[in-house]
Amino acid sequence: MSKYITTPIYYVNGEAHIGHAYTTFIADTMARYERLKGEDTFFLTGTDEHGQKIEESAAKAGKPTQEFADEISATFKNLWDEFGISYDKFIRTTDEEHMRGVQKAFEVMVAKGDIYKDFYEGHYCVSCETFFPETQLVDGEFCPDCGRSTNVVKEESYFFKLSKYEDKLLKHYEANPDFIMPKSRANEVINFVKGGLRDLSVTRTSFSWGVKMPASINDDKHVMYVWLDALLNYVTALGYGGDEAKMNYWPADVHFVGKDILRFHAIYWPAFLMSLDLPLPKHIGAHGWWTRDGEKMSKSKGNVVSPKEVADAYGVENLRYFMLREVPFGQDGDFSQRAFIDRINSELSNDLGNLLNRIIGMSGKYSDFVIDSKDVEKYHAKELAKMNKVLDSLDALMENLQTHRYLEELWKLFAIGNGVIQEYAPWVKMKNNQEDEALATVALVANILARAAIMLHPVMPETTKIIADGLSFEINNASYKELVIDKKLLKLFNIKKVPPLFPRVEEPLMVEAPKAKPNPPKEEKKAKESSKEDDNLIEIGQFFETSLKIGTVIEAEEVPKSKKLLKLQVDLGDETPRQIVAGIKEFYAPADLVDTQVCVVANLKPAKLMGMMSEGMLLAAKDEDGLCLIRPEKPKKAGTPIG
Ligand code: MSP
Repeated sequence: MSKYITTPIYYVNGEAHIGHAYTTFIADTMARYERLKGEDTFFLTGTDEHGQKIEESAAKAGKPTQEFADEISATFKNLWDEFGISYDKFIRTTDEEHMRGVQKAFEVMVAKGDIYKDFYEGHYCVSCETFFPETQLVDGEFCPDCGRSTNVVKEESYFFKLSKYEDKLLKHYEANPDFIMPKSRANEVINFVKGGLRDLSVTRTSFSWGVKMPASINDDKHVMYVWLDALLNYVTALGYGGDEAKMNYWPADVHFVGKDILRFHAIYWPAFLMSLDLPLPKHIGAHGWWTRDGEKMSKSKGNVVSPKEVADAYGVENLRYFMLREVPFGQDGDFSQRAFIDRINSELSNDLGNLLNRIIGMSGKYSDFVIDSKDVEKYHAKELAKMNKVLDSLDALMENLQTHRYLEELWKLFAIGNGVIQEYAPWVKMKNNQEDEALATVALVANILARAAIMLHPVMPETTKIIADGLSFEINNASYKELVIDKKLLKLFNIKKVPPLFPRVEEPLMVEAPKAKPNPPKEEKKAKESSKEDDNLIEIGQFFETSLKIGTVIEAEEVPKSKKLLKLQVDLGDETPRQIVAGIKEFYAPADLVDTQVCVVANLKPAKLMGMMSEGMLLAAKDEDGLCLIRPEKPKKAGTPIG
């Protein structure tokens, strides 16, 4: 059987960031996993180079569009090469064969009666390269996906009869409940389709940077809509519309995509394929978004994580491990150096690295670096059974794209290995004339490590090669079959010392990301326009959801047994004063607060602090020099609103 795995093709309007790296790492891991299992696997990645957005970015950079696309596309390809990504083809949508394939597909759709010419009048978001009907716009103007302002476009266009495929799509989702993975994402797609599909404008006349219409259509004014062009890459890469020798890989097993482009892959793409009479991909794997230290990454905040920078500092395979272990597939993930360092130190260095070093050390000391498995079954049948149970659980986890569970489960092997050394203490047995038993324990752990290295190979290909080399075997489909499937023991190991694989990391190795700056005051519209890049910006209405008021402190006392808290009674102009418990004891003496004014968040849900109700919060600012309360410049009546 063959397998076909893809990443999205990346827009060439900026360099790769950690989100791109994540999709590419999962897809690469999956491809390597399938190859390990002996599947004939084709792994595709590449760049998406047409459309108004790229044309505008090139113009801004003052470069001819093709030259600009060439340069950025090369940065992706070079990075993946440097990272050892095992793609079989790197497609570019400006490749001649691709463009011919797109034209061919268009002709097939025309022949099928799925394309008609009409006028399009609507709103277009250049950033998302998407049309939106008026009803979906925010405040009648802004893109519902990215918040940027849309352009009103009225132009002649060819339309694809998307509406015709509504029922067929719904039937497909129903008959194939794991078409969209994770399943939790399926509902949003199904509801979107149930809400009614409008025919899709699939050509543009307002710019020219796109695939030309097929000669048979003879309509030079139009170029193809970038998403029609881009999605077709998954089949043109296999030769669709040209030399179709590789079309045997179709349908794809998994298209990996970010959740933001799920709709294109789970609705438009299957409809296009139905029109072309091609089978649908088996799964669309939609992953979540990565933030940095809890914040959305954006160029304007200067907190975009560059995968190259991280890989240079921590090693690309550690990064692969971290990203795949850290988040359940489909959920959002956070990149923080702290979390990354913790996993390197505890899971890679302690659990795996130390176990390997102990086995190398013991084999040197007890048996001249030769490990013989002859007595493993005799003394360790129980541990072997445990090990085999773990091995048997792994395949389903990876095939379900649950890389975090896969790695969590795989790590149980190291727990078994570390546990058995602790329990059987081979160094004691060596002294007590129980040499066979001691060596059997060492051999058991060497066998566990060998299996773990095989199963970790798709995630950490180079590191596991070094481990396998140290244990004197090779990781390939034959050893996978023998050790993992048939559960045979490796009879003899000729151990070699390995270089330190996971040096402990004591300090963050990269400069920390700048903290989000407070938002500069901007007009509401401007804020909206840039909200894709500055997602921490809020609407003015959101700000006014907070009720801020001037308060006068009437009473203040210390909270017994608390180092931090003071209990205040604050007049907010209501009949009775509010009780507010505030963490300011280290900075203010109660007596100094009475009769002074403060700024209060007045509509916070009441909360209990050390058993006392607190019905508000004081505004304060804190830095290295301590904390100070925010107060009105002149006295104001208690209860005066702030804003
Ligand atoms: N060109 C289209 C895809 C066409 S596929 C036929 C595109 N390109 S993109 O460069 O904007 O995005 C590529 C992928 O990166 C998307 O899957 C997107 O979800 C992903 N990510 C972009 N930012 C991301 C994060 N911060 N975190 C995780 N993935 C993110 O869309």
